[in-house]
Amino acid sequence: MRGEMEDSGFRAIEFDGHRLRLIDQRLLPATEYWLEIPDAEAAARAIRDLVVRGAPAIGITAAYAAVLAARECRGDSGAWNDALDRLERARPTAVNLSWAIARMRRCAEGPGGVDPDALLEEARRIHAEDIEANRAMAQAGAGMLGDSVGVLTHCNTGSLATGGIGTALGVIAEGWRRGRISRVYADETRPWLQGSRLTAWELARLEIPFRVIVEGAAASLMAAGAVDWVITGADRITANGDVANKIGTCMLAVLARHFGVRMMVVAPSSTVDPNLPSGASIDIEERDPAEIWRAAGIEKVPAGFDSYNPVFDVTPGHLVDCIVTEQGVHSPPYRFTVPGAA
Ligand code: MRU
Repeated sequence: MRGEMEDSGFRAIEFDGHRLRLIDQRLLPATEYWLEIPDAEAAARAIRDLVVRGAPAIGITAAYAAVLAARECRGDSGAWNDALDRLERARPTAVNLSWAIARMRRCAEGPGGVDPDALLEEARRIHAEDIEANRAMAQAGAGMLGDSVGVLTHCNTGSLATGGIGTALGVIAEGWRRGRISRVYADETRPWLQGSRLTAWELARLEIPFRVIVEGAAASLMAAGAVDWVITGADRITANGDVANKIGTCMLAVLARHFGVRMMVVAPSSTVDPNLPSGASIDIEERDPAEIWRAAGIEKVPAGFDSYNPVFDVTPGHLVDCIVTEQGVHSPPYRFTVPGAA
């Protein structure tokens, strides 16, 4: 065992009751700059522009932004609901955003209406529940690993992407603490480089040795037997266990199955969308093609160059060996149901 559970205590979202502050993830790892978010419109922009990203983190940010909106709207529920509509449209794929906003709307349905104090309590509950879910998933996922394993992760799923220690990265931190992991590989994650900028920054803070690889290196690493588990997060998991996550995740799952490597998806139940029967109906975000050119160091795009930038893909549930939520470890065939439904 290596010390206490590896919760660095780092929190990427701060709300002191009045001021919302986000670490600007566009600038990491070079600069640790905290951006002050004055109102709900600025929060929607911050989510859209990836100041804050990662499914649970954007849900938590939206919940706090709903509190800011309530103060701006001074009880006008029409104006408040419009502000929440704009927040919800900031990014389409991660269900945590609409899930958190739905919770805030339900909170305002009571006799108190759009009451900033009641909404603040609800936002804090959403944040605290995510921290707790992270802890539970880290324990459950680490228990699945085996001994002296090599793990490969994709995108960023740690403290920057959640309320607490993270999802997939939380499992890796706990697996490392238990002495179960001997090698950690992090995909650079093109084009936005969540792996080489953000996961690398977090692993270094946690003092967990790691190596960043280009996505294309995954097959040869698996063929060489260096990877036992692919461990990722998720942006939306449908009733049948299909998983929308950062573009490239499906490719890893296909490779993993081919090379006999296991695939673990770690996500809180706020990421599960049992209302969608399968991944076919998930809205996959496409972002500015310029992100691809920028990642290639091309600022002035030559005439005739074209690109296509879908930023998530859908991994069929049958390629996922287990899905870890705060409720435990789920195995295929997956059947997630609406809570309370018969
Ligand atoms: O575009 P991003 O950076 O928001 O994408 C994030 C991911 O795909 C993560 O894997 C997912 O949100 C899980 S984060 C705990």
